[in-house]
Amino acid sequence: MINQREDFTYRLLMDAGIKKGFRVLDVGCGSGDVTLLTAAIVGDDGEVIGFDTNDAALDIARNAAVERHILNAKFIKAEISMLPQDIGWFDAIVGRRVLMYQSDATHSVKSLLPHLKTNGLVVFQESDSMGSFKNMDLPLHTQAQAWIWDTVAKEDFSKKSHRASGLVLFLLGEVSCIGDNIHNLKLS
Ligand SMILES: C[S@@+](CC[C@H](N)C(=O)[O-])C[C@H]1O[C@@H](n2cnc3c(N)ncnc32)[C@H](O)[C@@H]1O
Repeated sequence: MINQREDFTYRLLMDAGIKKGFRVLDVGCGSGDVTLLTAAIVGDDGEVIGFDTNDAALDIARNAAVERHILNAKFIKAEISMLPQDIGWFDAIVGRRVLMYQSDATHSVKSLLPHLKTNGLVVFQESDSMGSFKNMDLPLHTQAQAWIWDTVAKEDFSKKSHRASGLVLFLLGEVSCIGDNIHNLKLS
């Protein structure tokens, strides 16, 4: 059974067009939840490579794959802007809650694009602090948002926590999001 968080991610990936047989790169995979979810979608003829800088998270991801007998997911240690040359090309590049930690999310996305096949998909699920509630007088919501972003700052993955992100769904060569940092970035 998929929990509510995974259900949202699952629907996002499906709506974006991730399909059986795809080769997918999962950016900042952490303990592998999105990688393993995507591995189930692409099936035995597909492959998902998750990468992260965090060894402990990668160990958890690898163990989870072994425990669940998932053979089409691999995990490597890498940084967004320094992927191994031989990693190849992907039908889709996906990620969840990772661009929001980059000091320059646009640069991060651009540095991944050389690994995307023509007409490939780029699909990110990110937290949004700039959405439709921002101009409304909702003190409790505002307080909750502040707590969330204080927590993000304290997570300190890269010492560069950054608020400029939105729910980002990039499809077929065009990037759109509800943030102030990435708007209709044309992929070439
Ligand atoms: C909030 S966790 C999300 C993990 C996973 N995507 C998920 O949704 O379950 C963010 C992950 O991104 C990784 N990360 C952050 N910046 C990164 C970078 N520049 N290169 C690779 N991984 C990065 C962190 O190590 C962390 O595991």
